[in-house]
Amino acid sequence: MKNLLIASVMFLFAASGASIAGDAAAGKSKSAACGGCHGFDGNSPISLYPKLAGQNEAYITKQVKDFKANTTRQSPIMLGMVAGLSDEDAADIGAYYQAQSVSSAAAFDESKAAAGRALYKGGDLQAGIPACQACHGPTGAGTAGIGYPQIGGQYVEYTLAQLKAFKDGSRSNDDNKLMRSIVEKLSDDELEAVANYIASLK
Ligand code: HEC
Ligand code: HEC
Repeated sequence: MKNLLIASVMFLFAASGASIAGDAAAGKSKSAACGGCHGFDGNSPISLYPKLAGQNEAYITKQVKDFKANTTRQSPIMLGMVAGLSDEDAADIGAYYQAQSVSSAAAFDESKAAAGRALYKGGDLQAGIPACQACHGPTGAGTAGIGYPQIGGQYVEYTLAQLKAFKDGSRSNDDNKLMRSIVEKLSDDELEAVANYIASLK
């Protein structure tokens, strides 16, 4: 009886916790309007626009929701783009991009990347800064199951802009302040160094 109860509770939990699973084939056609900026395979041709290729579905779905809510992550450009997307559209598009591969490293400054490596790999125990790779992975591929974003191979300009946005609070959509609590302890030089290292990852 007890086992049965546990089993049914677990089933309920799984059923209610399940989000819409995206359909990559449907997502391919739905992403046509996104390709102009993000690249048709998600490898944006210019650094103004973030690469989405290889980005995980859970993260993309969350960002679409957050842009729509227009509170903790605001972008006038993206607000217009996501207005007409349903949750299912977002999941389909996310599944499509997740199935693509991020193009090899974005342009970066060698010496800055070398300076950022230690922080990415090991954090700073004394200062209470965790290693970035603990959540984003040794190659920056992220942790797909829980929606931690892929960041490896991303353009320096975009990554740096996001780190600064977390630091000044203009982006605050990180649950439990996961990112804000880290970047508040980093100098602008450190942010620039780690953004260059991230761009070098593949
Ligand atoms: C006119 C150019 C443009 C178009 C078209 C566009 N985007 Fe974007 N997108 C941007 C910009 C600029 C950003 C960065 C916003 C910021 O500064 O936070 C962005 C960011 C994103 C992000 C967040 C990426 C990350 O790593 O956090 C997602 C997800 C995204 N766009 C999805 C889409 C989808 C889906 C579509 C199509 C429905 C689309 N975009 C169409 C310009 C565009
Ligand atoms: C405890 C886990 C954790 C650690 C450690 C961590 N991050 Fe993050 N990071 C996240 C999560 C979760 C998000 C996504 C927040 C959201 O938008 O929902 C994120 C988002 C980001 C983004 C934005 C990605 C995008 O596409 O817009 C960048 C850049 C980033 N992190 C860099 C770093 C760097 C650099 C470090 C180390 C100094 C670091 N992170 C350490 C969890 C972590």
